[in-house]
Amino acid sequence: MRNFISVHDVANINELVAKALSYKANPLKDKTLGSNKRIGLLFLNPSMRTRLSTQIAAQNLGMEAIVFNVGQEGWALEFEEEAIMSGSTVEHVKDAAPIMGKYFDVLAIRTFPSLKNREDDYSELFIKQFIKYAGIPVVSLESATLHPLQSLTDVITINEHATATAGGPLWGNKKKPKIVLTWAPHVKPLPQCVANSFSQWINAWGQADFVITHPEDYELDTQFTNGATITHNQDKALKDADFVYVKNWSTFNNEYGRIYTNDPAWMLNNAKLALTNNAKVMHCLPVRRNVELSDEILDGPNSIVTQEASNRIWAAQAVLSEILQANY
Ligand code: CP
Repeated sequence: MRNFISVHDVANINELVAKALSYKANPLKDKTLGSNKRIGLLFLNPSMRTRLSTQIAAQNLGMEAIVFNVGQEGWALEFEEEAIMSGSTVEHVKDAAPIMGKYFDVLAIRTFPSLKNREDDYSELFIKQFIKYAGIPVVSLESATLHPLQSLTDVITINEHATATAGGPLWGNKKKPKIVLTWAPHVKPLPQCVANSFSQWINAWGQADFVITHPEDYELDTQFTNGATITHNQDKALKDADFVYVKNWSTFNNEYGRIYTNDPAWMLNNAKLALTNNAKVMHCLPVRRNVELSDEILDGPNSIVTQEASNRIWAAQAVLSEILQANY
């Protein structure tokens, strides 16, 4: 693996999941793999889980991790080629990234979309420019359209329930679990990244009956959702679900990056959960309680959000391990 930007960088999802779970069982088994190697974690946007879990993952492999909050503490970066930099940007990525390529052995970057211009966001210019100019492996810590470390974590967490529950898989004798990605209300427009990425990974994994449910006008990009069943009927979607993945996203089609509805009827509660096969409930976090997800779900026995977030370490460790082994 050279870079980790999407599921397309992964040769075998199940092998990467197995590697992550082997690190969960024995976090320090490769504690010298990254000796004398340094990772730069660049944050153009806020983070809690991604920042901490990736630092811990790097340290478990013996790497030094340096965090740089570019968005708050760095010079404002320009990403457009041939830009006339007479505005607010101070340094071009083609000048900054090669320097980071000398300081670090791996570069990891978080950069959110503007939600103003769909074509600009979906071009993934920021992360592509870092790949082009840094000259070292690049890891996405969430980009304009995707959040691959989160999605790998989600597949790991679903997989744990297939292999680690005493009575066998949660979905019993069914060949595949039913996984439902449901839109949830929110007070402000959020990126489509987590929903896009979860869809991309579950489709590529190919081991689930995958259903996406959202209100009208919240269709996601079909390049990620093709292969899933899509319905505007949330109750129908939830029927017999084994996993429910809850996430808000803003509009992709028509007017990009907008909120058209904030209908609280879309918030998952125990009455809706009763439609499922006692489904485990997932969310990438952070979550707005009693807007996106009810207290009764988050504090109830079906929520696996803490397990999910704790697995972020093992996802990051598996990815960094692959990159170290392939490039150094
Ligand atoms: N899920 C996730 O990426 O969390 P942070 O934004 O806190 O990193």
